[in-house]
Amino acid sequence: MEKLLDTGKVRAIGVSNFSIKNLEILLKHAKVAPANNQVEIHPYLPQHALQKYCDEKGILLSAYSPLGQGNPMFFSDPDFARIAESHDATPAQISISWLVQRGTPPIVKSANVERMKKNITLVKLSPGEMEVIDNIHRKPGAHRSLMTYHRPDGTASMWTYEQLGWPMTVGGLVKE
Ligand SMILES: NC(=O)c1ccc[n+]([C@@H]2O[C@H](COP(=O)([O-])OP(=O)(O)OC[C@H]3O[C@@H](n4cnc5c(N)ncnc54)[C@H](OP(=O)(O)O)[C@@H]3O)[C@@H](O)[C@H]2O)c1
Repeated sequence: MEKLLDTGKVRAIGVSNFSIKNLEILLKHAKVAPANNQVEIHPYLPQHALQKYCDEKGILLSAYSPLGQGNPMFFSDPDFARIAESHDATPAQISISWLVQRGTPPIVKSANVERMKKNITLVKLSPGEMEVIDNIHRKPGAHRSLMTYHRPDGTASMWTYEQLGWPMTVGGLVKE
């Protein structure tokens, strides 16, 4: 990938699903640090430690599946729902606004034009509301991946959590 930068055909290198563990391995060998690391991020998996690490290394962290890929369990969290209601906004708008406000570009998908329009209409969250959403994952059973790629044998997309460097256990639950 670094060689491709010299051809002028590639402007930046990005990686995906890289944990701190695997970024450490990569950065030992890379001449060019990745510009971007795209990982699953939403209120149930805020990736605070990875965010701090990427900020320190100058890697832009971006959020895939910011709405939980159609399994947005956090939409019904009472604190999260209350914030949405108080802004007269959809839960999706709150998740997207929280990510934009914390400096993590969300990569949202919708095939519905009305949702697309709403999804790009951001709301301004107060510091207190940001803090509440930052901490929703601390509730019992909340801190987890919402992806369907987790397998009962404790692997995700054929990788073990240890190989991936993800602090997870079977089903994508984060080890506390
Ligand atoms: N790098 C990776 O490993 C990786 C992994 C997964 C995903 N991604 C990328 O991340 C992007 C988005 O991810 P995603 O599709 O997995 O997740 P997502 O954006 O979190 O969720 C998409 C789902 O949310 C629904 N949705 C959209 N707006 C909504 C709203 N306002 N209210 C309720 N539901 C809403 C969509 O349904 P409708 O279409 O019916 O609106 C769709 O079912 C994609 O570009 C994908 O390729 C990357």
